[in-house]
Amino acid sequence: MAHIALYPGTFDPLTFGHLDMIVRASTLCKKLIVGVAENPGKNPTLSLDKRKELVEIEIIRMKETGSISENVEVQAFTGLLTEFAKLLDASMLIRGLRAVSDFEYEFQMASANKRLHQKLETVFLTASEKQHFVASRLVKEIARYGGDVSSFVPKNVEQELILLFRDKKNI
Ligand code: PNS
Repeated sequence: MAHIALYPGTFDPLTFGHLDMIVRASTLCKKLIVGVAENPGKNPTLSLDKRKELVEIEIIRMKETGSISENVEVQAFTGLLTEFAKLLDASMLIRGLRAVSDFEYEFQMASANKRLHQKLETVFLTASEKQHFVASRLVKEIARYGGDVSSFVPKNVEQELILLFRDKKNI
Protein backbone atom coordinates (compact mmCIF):
# COMPACT_ATOMS: atom_id res chain seq x y z
CA MET A 1 0.00 0.00 0.00
CA ALA A 2 1.33 3.42 -0.96
CA HIS A 3 1.88 5.81 1.87
CA ILE A 4 0.85 8.99 0.08
CA ALA A 5 -1.02 9.01 -3.24
CA LEU A 6 -1.83 12.04 -5.33
CA TYR A 7 -4.95 12.27 -7.49
CA PRO A 8 -4.39 15.34 -9.68
CA GLY A 9 -6.76 17.03 -12.09
CA THR A 10 -8.18 20.28 -13.30
CA PHE A 11 -11.61 19.51 -11.84
CA ASP A 12 -13.28 22.11 -14.05
CA PRO A 13 -15.72 21.11 -12.70
CA LEU A 14 -15.71 18.16 -10.31
CA THR A 15 -17.97 15.34 -11.57
CA PHE A 16 -19.41 12.13 -10.12
CA GLY A 17 -16.69 10.36 -12.12
CA HIS A 18 -14.04 12.17 -10.05
CA LEU A 19 -15.84 11.32 -6.81
CA ASP A 20 -15.91 7.64 -7.78
CA MET A 21 -12.12 7.81 -8.33
CA ILE A 22 -11.57 9.53 -4.98
CA VAL A 23 -13.53 6.87 -3.09
CA ARG A 24 -11.70 4.00 -4.75
CA ALA A 25 -8.23 5.58 -4.69
CA SER A 26 -8.55 6.37 -0.99
CA THR A 27 -8.55 2.63 -0.22
CA LEU A 28 -5.20 2.13 -1.97
CA CYS A 29 -3.11 4.41 0.22
CA LYS A 30 -2.66 5.68 3.75
CA LYS A 31 -3.27 9.25 2.62
CA LEU A 32 -4.84 10.57 -0.58
CA ILE A 33 -4.27 14.12 -1.68
CA VAL A 34 -6.60 15.45 -4.33
CA GLY A 35 -4.47 17.97 -6.20
CA VAL A 36 -6.40 20.70 -7.98
CA ALA A 37 -4.14 22.05 -10.71
CA GLU A 38 -4.14 25.70 -11.71
CA ASN A 39 -3.61 24.49 -15.29
CA PRO A 40 -3.66 27.83 -17.16
CA GLY A 41 -2.96 25.93 -20.41
CA LYS A 42 -6.48 24.50 -20.30
CA ASN A 43 -7.98 27.92 -19.64
CA PRO A 44 -10.34 26.66 -16.91
CA THR A 45 -13.82 28.12 -16.69
CA LEU A 46 -13.93 28.13 -12.88
CA SER A 47 -11.26 29.82 -10.76
CA LEU A 48 -8.71 27.67 -8.94
CA ASP A 49 -10.21 28.67 -5.57
CA LYS A 50 -13.73 27.76 -6.69
CA ARG A 51 -12.64 24.39 -8.12
CA LYS A 52 -10.81 23.58 -4.90
CA GLU A 53 -13.76 24.71 -2.78
CA LEU A 54 -16.19 22.48 -4.71
CA VAL A 55 -13.91 19.46 -4.22
CA GLU A 56 -13.52 20.32 -0.53
CA ILE A 57 -17.30 20.49 0.01
CA GLU A 58 -17.78 17.01 -1.45
CA ILE A 59 -14.90 15.53 0.52
CA ILE A 60 -16.38 16.87 3.76
CA ARG A 61 -19.78 15.46 2.77
CA MET A 62 -18.33 12.05 1.88
CA LYS A 63 -16.49 11.93 5.21
CA GLU A 64 -19.74 12.74 7.02
CA THR A 65 -21.65 10.01 5.18
CA GLY A 66 -18.83 7.50 5.65
CA SER A 67 -18.12 7.03 1.91
CA ILE A 68 -14.48 7.89 2.61
CA SER A 69 -12.40 8.01 5.75
CA GLU A 70 -10.33 10.83 7.20
CA ASN A 71 -7.33 10.00 4.97
CA VAL A 72 -8.40 12.29 2.09
CA GLU A 73 -7.50 15.94 1.73
CA VAL A 74 -7.50 18.60 -1.00
CA GLN A 75 -4.71 20.93 -2.03
CA ALA A 76 -4.39 23.33 -4.93
CA PHE A 77 -1.12 23.47 -6.85
CA THR A 78 0.58 25.51 -9.53
CA GLY A 79 3.50 24.47 -11.69
CA LEU A 80 4.73 20.98 -12.43
CA LEU A 81 2.87 17.99 -11.09
CA THR A 82 6.09 16.09 -10.39
CA GLU A 83 7.40 18.95 -8.24
CA PHE A 84 4.17 18.97 -6.27
CA ALA A 85 4.40 15.18 -5.83
CA LYS A 86 7.97 15.57 -4.51
CA LEU A 87 6.84 18.25 -2.09
CA LEU A 88 4.13 15.93 -0.75
CA ASP A 89 6.44 12.90 -0.78
CA ALA A 90 3.80 11.07 -2.79
CA SER A 91 4.85 7.74 -4.33
CA MET A 92 1.69 7.06 -6.32
CA LEU A 93 -0.12 9.11 -8.91
CA ILE A 94 -3.71 8.14 -9.57
CA ARG A 95 -5.38 8.76 -12.92
CA GLY A 96 -8.72 7.62 -14.23
CA LEU A 97 -9.21 6.01 -17.62
CA ARG A 98 -12.64 6.25 -19.16
CA ALA A 99 -12.19 5.12 -22.72
CA VAL A 100 -9.49 4.11 -25.17
CA SER A 101 -9.41 7.73 -26.33
CA ASP A 102 -7.98 8.74 -22.94
CA PHE A 103 -5.12 6.31 -23.29
CA GLU A 104 -2.71 8.13 -25.60
CA TYR A 105 -2.70 11.36 -23.58
CA GLU A 106 -2.48 9.48 -20.30
CA PHE A 107 0.33 7.26 -21.57
CA GLN A 108 2.34 10.31 -22.69
CA MET A 109 1.74 12.08 -19.40
CA ALA A 110 2.68 9.03 -17.31
CA SER A 111 5.87 8.56 -19.36
CA ALA A 112 6.88 12.22 -19.07
CA ASN A 113 6.14 12.26 -15.34
CA LYS A 114 8.19 9.10 -14.88
CA ARG A 115 11.15 10.70 -16.59
CA LEU A 116 10.87 13.76 -14.38
CA HIS A 117 10.35 11.78 -11.16
CA GLN A 118 11.48 8.13 -11.28
CA LYS A 119 10.07 7.21 -7.90
CA LEU A 120 6.53 8.23 -8.77
CA GLU A 121 4.36 5.41 -10.14
CA THR A 122 1.23 6.25 -12.12
CA VAL A 123 -1.65 3.92 -11.36
CA PHE A 124 -4.70 3.91 -13.62
CA LEU A 125 -8.15 3.13 -12.35
CA THR A 126 -10.81 2.38 -14.92
CA ALA A 127 -13.93 4.47 -14.55
CA SER A 128 -16.91 2.64 -13.16
CA GLU A 129 -19.50 1.56 -15.71
CA LYS A 130 -21.93 4.27 -14.63
CA GLN A 131 -19.40 7.08 -15.00
CA HIS A 132 -17.31 6.00 -17.97
CA PHE A 133 -18.48 8.76 -20.33
CA VAL A 134 -18.72 11.62 -17.84
CA ALA A 135 -16.27 14.36 -18.80
CA SER A 136 -16.00 17.89 -17.40
CA ARG A 137 -15.89 19.28 -20.93
CA LEU A 138 -19.26 17.73 -21.80
CA VAL A 139 -20.78 18.83 -18.51
CA LYS A 140 -19.79 22.44 -19.21
CA GLU A 141 -21.21 22.29 -22.70
CA ILE A 142 -24.54 20.92 -21.46
CA ALA A 143 -24.68 23.55 -18.69
CA ARG A 144 -23.78 26.34 -21.11
CA TYR A 145 -26.90 25.54 -23.15
CA GLY A 146 -29.08 25.26 -20.08
CA GLY A 147 -29.22 21.45 -20.03
CA ASP A 148 -29.71 19.32 -16.94
CA VAL A 149 -26.35 18.25 -15.48
CA SER A 150 -27.72 16.88 -12.20
CA SER A 151 -26.87 13.30 -13.08
CA PHE A 152 -23.23 14.21 -13.82
CA VAL A 153 -22.21 16.53 -10.98
CA PRO A 154 -23.01 17.11 -7.29
CA LYS A 155 -25.69 19.67 -6.39
CA ASN A 156 -23.21 22.41 -5.39
CA VAL A 157 -21.39 22.10 -8.68
CA GLU A 158 -24.65 22.19 -10.61
CA GLN A 159 -25.67 25.39 -8.82
CA GLU A 160 -22.30 26.97 -9.51
CA LEU A 161 -22.57 26.17 -13.21
CA ILE A 162 -26.11 27.53 -13.42
CA LEU A 163 -24.98 30.81 -11.82
CA LEU A 164 -21.91 31.05 -13.99
CA PHE A 165 -23.63 30.52 -17.30
CA ARG A 166 -26.56 32.73 -16.31
CA ASP A 167 -24.20 35.62 -15.52
CA LYS A 168 -21.74 35.09 -18.35
CA LYS A 169 -23.80 34.07 -21.31
CA ASN A 170 -20.83 34.02 -23.71
CA ILE A 171 -18.34 31.74 -21.91
O1 PNS B 1 -8.08 16.63 -15.19
P1 PNS B 1 -7.03 16.85 -16.23
O2 PNS B 1 -7.23 18.17 -16.90
O3 PNS B 1 -6.96 15.72 -17.21
O4 PNS B 1 -5.64 16.90 -15.44
C1 PNS B 1 -4.46 17.21 -16.11
C2 PNS B 1 -3.32 17.50 -15.11
C3 PNS B 1 -3.71 18.61 -14.15
C4 PNS B 1 -2.99 16.27 -14.32
C5 PNS B 1 -2.07 17.92 -15.96
O5 PNS B 1 -2.41 18.94 -16.84
C6 PNS B 1 -0.91 18.38 -15.09
O6 PNS B 1 -0.21 17.56 -14.53
N1 PNS B 1 -0.72 19.71 -14.96
C7 PNS B 1 0.35 20.28 -14.18
C8 PNS B 1 1.50 20.75 -15.07
C9 PNS B 1 2.36 19.59 -15.49
O7 PNS B 1 3.05 18.97 -14.71
N2 PNS B 1 2.35 19.29 -16.80
C10 PNS B 1 3.14 18.22 -17.38
C11 PNS B 1 2.39 16.91 -17.37
S1 PNS B 1 3.38 15.64 -18.14
